[in-house]
Amino acid sequence: MSRALVTGCAGFIGSHLSERLLADGHEVIGVDSFEDYYPRDQKEANIVDALESDRFTLVEGGILQLSENDSQLRGLVDSVDYVYHLAAQPGVRASWGETFRVYSDNNVLATQVLLETAREVGVEGFVYASSSSVYGDTTVFPMREDAPCAPHSPYGVTKLAAEHLCRLYTRNFGVHTASLRFFTVYGPRQRPDMAFRRFIESAMRGEAIKVFGDGLQTRDFTFVSDIVDGLVAATAAPAGTVANLAGGSRVSLVEAIRTLEDAMGQPIEIEHVGLQAGDVRDTWASIDVAQEALGYNPKVGLAEGLAAEVDWIRTRGQA
Ligand SMILES: NC(=O)c1ccc[n+]([C@@H]2O[C@H](COP(=O)([O-])OP(=O)(O)OC[C@H]3O[C@@H](n4cnc5c(N)ncnc54)[C@H](O)[C@@H]3O)[C@@H](O)[C@H]2O)c1
Repeated sequence: MSRALVTGCAGFIGSHLSERLLADGHEVIGVDSFEDYYPRDQKEANIVDALESDRFTLVEGGILQLSENDSQLRGLVDSVDYVYHLAAQPGVRASWGETFRVYSDNNVLATQVLLETAREVGVEGFVYASSSSVYGDTTVFPMREDAPCAPHSPYGVTKLAAEHLCRLYTRNFGVHTASLRFFTVYGPRQRPDMAFRRFIESAMRGEAIKVFGDGLQTRDFTFVSDIVDGLVAATAAPAGTVANLAGGSRVSLVEAIRTLEDAMGQPIEIEHVGLQAGDVRDTWASIDVAQEALGYNPKVGLAEGLAAEVDWIRTRGQA
């Protein structure tokens, strides 16, 4: 049994990771600031099962706030073997303008503070949730980790900056980091601002779904349990590993909506609306590095994964 700190534990991916670590017999300290980017009650619902375990401890607070508060953060990091750093302000489209400060605080400054703390007290592993958004609007496919990164959104800039910080703390201080670039994650508990969640909820209300642009943009969709598999394997990867975690289900948005119609058992009407600043045209990952360094092998295809998300929204989510 080991002890892990999971930042962003009440979020979409962090709550699944926490449950998986608990199921594997580990102790989990979960940190979350319950940011109001989406409703708190949804995050509270995400951690209902984890809270039932006596090996789960929830610490409510922001990373920066915890670091200022009598070095509470230091005590937390000092008490664990591994840090899984998933806390961040997500969302590409909201990252312009005045809200960029939230992104720089929660994604860049918070990561630097956490790395500095990990360096001071020593941890066996530090796994960082990076993003496909670090690549930008590339036309070279599949996207490989050694390709140049030129983010297309302020959000992507912050995720890349934090990834660089991880690399620096490995090179200079030997902090054992791994940065995993997630490609469009979906499944139960998906954030309410993300496409499939919006589509399913609109379709359940009998409304047309809003698709940005022509719908022919492609995404490499990744089911959340595959992401969790990659996260738990990452602590054994060589220090400084940077790896894509993708699902191997690259399809256009229009094709994905057809699969969603099958999963929902109903036709879905599409309304095309304007492209959004910051959105990239296509994503498609090479997962060679993840296969080699993490033994990563995504298992859940789009039809199965969408059926699971639909089922969750129908039974537990809020439409
Ligand atoms: N969902 C995706 O498709 C996707 C893709 C690429 C990368 N990621 C990354 O994965 C991670 C998790 O994303 P998610 O979709 O689960 O988002 P989420 O918003 O559901 O979860 C993030 C959680 O972090 C918390 N948080 C934010 N700032 C914090 C801070 N400073 N201190 C403590 N807690 C804080 C939030 O309250 C939230 O509960 C993020 O780092 C995100 O950038 C997600």
